[in-house]
Amino acid sequence: MNEPTVFPLITDPDLQAYCDAHSTQQLPLQAHIESKSLATGKIQMISGKFLGQYLRMMSLLLRPRRILEVGTFTGYGTSCLSAGLQPDGLIYTLEKSSEYKSLATNNLETSPQLHQIRFLEGDAAELISGLDEVWDLVFLDAAKRQYINYYDLVFDKLKVGGVILADNVLWKGKVGHPENDKLGEGLDAFNKMVMADERVDNIVLPIDDGLNFIIKR
Ligand SMILES: C[S@@+](CC[C@H](N)C(=O)[O-])C[C@H]1O[C@@H](n2cnc3c(N)ncnc32)[C@H](O)[C@@H]1O
Repeated sequence: MNEPTVFPLITDPDLQAYCDAHSTQQLPLQAHIESKSLATGKIQMISGKFLGQYLRMMSLLLRPRRILEVGTFTGYGTSCLSAGLQPDGLIYTLEKSSEYKSLATNNLETSPQLHQIRFLEGDAAELISGLDEVWDLVFLDAAKRQYINYYDLVFDKLKVGGVILADNVLWKGKVGHPENDKLGEGLDAFNKMVMADERVDNIVLPIDDGLNFIIKR
């Protein structure tokens, strides 16, 4: 039997440590959510310090009025994405698990943006269809084989110049590799579809597990 392929880390660990040490440090709210996420046994699902800070920066730069987060988990990404919301801004965050939704609600109790966060429970694709908003910023981070569907569902409601950020698009380096798995195949198909879509500009960034950064033309 062949040995399984060992996929490389996307960023060299020493370089990543340097990047972490020379970036704005995690804020108390995010540290709190990180510690609360440990008990789920799925800490790897949170955006975490580095990607989280990238999401914060994006929000601070765009100053969005309407944000859609697809996949809440414990609210780490929500806390970061909401940082730059306009005073009348809202973030909708979608989660299929009632347990995770209530965890996130508790974790964000002290968020200065709590009054601007709408926690919605259910299947993301169904929830997106029911939201009548114009999106400035969309973060895709739920079912990996649904990314094309999420993209199609949000696209007409994304403003021109609006941004979609899609997480995990390098799938630990497995995308495009013969030993890719089903979820990675979905992500590979998504990346190919985005690149061929003339309505957008995009760049696949080797941040964390890979982030597809997409701007609507
Ligand atoms: C990677 S986690 C989200 C992490 C979060 N966005 C963050 O930045 O910390 C993915 C979440 O999507 C949820 N999810 C998966 N499939 C879903 C679906 N079809 N509809 C809604 N939520 C879904 C999972 O339950 C999980 O909590």
